[in-house]
Amino acid sequence: MFLMMFVGVLAVESASAQAAQQQKPLMVEDVFKNVQILKGIPVDEFMDTMGFFAAALSLNCTECHTPESENSWAKYADDTPLKQTARRMMQMVTAINKQHFAGARAVTCYTCHHGTQRPKAVPSLVIQYSAPLEDPNEVDPNEVGVTGQDPAGLILDKYIQAIGGAARLASVTSLAVKGTYSGYDTYHQKVAMEIYAQAPDRAATIVHEVGPTKADSVKVYDGRAGWIVSGNKPVPVMPLTGGNLAGAKLDANLLFPAQIKQAFTQWRTGTAAIDDHDVQVVQGANAGQPPVKLYFDPNSGLLVRLVRYSDTAIGPVPTQIDYSDYRDVSGVKIPFRWTVTWTDNQTFIQLTEVRPNVPIDASRFARPAQ
Ligand code: HEC
Ligand code: HEC
Repeated sequence: MFLMMFVGVLAVESASAQAAQQQKPLMVEDVFKNVQILKGIPVDEFMDTMGFFAAALSLNCTECHTPESENSWAKYADDTPLKQTARRMMQMVTAINKQHFAGARAVTCYTCHHGTQRPKAVPSLVIQYSAPLEDPNEVDPNEVGVTGQDPAGLILDKYIQAIGGAARLASVTSLAVKGTYSGYDTYHQKVAMEIYAQAPDRAATIVHEVGPTKADSVKVYDGRAGWIVSGNKPVPVMPLTGGNLAGAKLDANLLFPAQIKQAFTQWRTGTAAIDDHDVQVVQGANAGQPPVKLYFDPNSGLLVRLVRYSDTAIGPVPTQIDYSDYRDVSGVKIPFRWTVTWTDNQTFIQLTEVRPNVPIDASRFARPAQ
């Protein structure tokens, strides 16, 4: 519901601007015309703040912006009463956090809005007298290891065993995948997709015929840097930063999960339920980055969900990936169905063919051309 399509006017960049971008991330000022508050942040983080607004208020992009912006990125610069209110709200939230929470981002748009355009002032008796809605993504794993025991390590070891064991996993060093993809950006039609991946953490995903232009949408992580190439973004090649970059690395890592224990330095565990099924939650974190939650089926030991967050100037934006339909590929169990849900889109990926250990040309992981 939130993602809008564009036949759009793409930003034109000079050769020198392109050269400069290789060094530094693409910033709001390099691309947008009328940003007054959310200045000085990378473009991918800015787009995540827009997803945050849409999710926090349950508004489509074009409901805050003008209807004409549906077909033109330039029109997003035009002001509307809701945009102006949103700017005042950003200033209000900054002031509240500064005055009352020592500058910590304790209050966000979602704190009051809770998915509605106008926050409610009156307590709901229906909510007070209903069973609480439990969101497994909101569990706060608090069990840390006690002496001689490492609960996160046990769950992760069981997972590695369940998908084939460390030796089998180590024998798969590349994957060439074919499948189908559908989402708002394909008008829910299934289109063809491919994934090329090289252990430990390089991956390129290509989705064909996306959006009104039916162009390819490409996401690349080269082991260090990442990009999204899409006709549905305000810039043709959007470099990934912060949580988006960490997320691309983790997604690539999870295609070769043997090293998963090395991906994070701090671990906690907890329990939750997804659709009435108990799950074990393992939360991994690295200093200075938002945590990642991994949900495991306690019986099969398999990974069923991943929740990660991209921090933005406005608040953390969650991404959830649900994994199912595990199938055997050369003795390694791989999930053939992924449902990816975040504030911009919900996409369904079904793998149809997974070929292990085929040679993959390094150019697959190169920085995409403009
Ligand atoms: C709650 C209202 C609201 C929603 C919903 C919203 N935006 Fe915005 N948008 C704003 C505001 C406010 C600004 C200006 C920010 C500033 O001045 O710092 C802005 C600026 C922008 C800009 C920069 C335009 C320019 O050149 O100056 C783009 C692009 C944009 N939004 C895209 C989107 C997209 C895409 C979505 C849907 C995912 C979206 N917005 C949803 C309020 C909103
Ligand atoms: C402290 C609570 C609070 C927070 C935090 C908050 N808002 Fe609001 N917001 C309100 C209230 C209350 C209203 C409704 C005012 C009214 O009824 O006219 C409102 C109204 C709005 C409206 C206008 C809706 C309309 O239909 O006129 C927009 C847009 C908006 N908020 C955006 C935001 C954004 C974006 C953020 C985060 C940067 C945010 N708000 C954070 C309380 C809050």
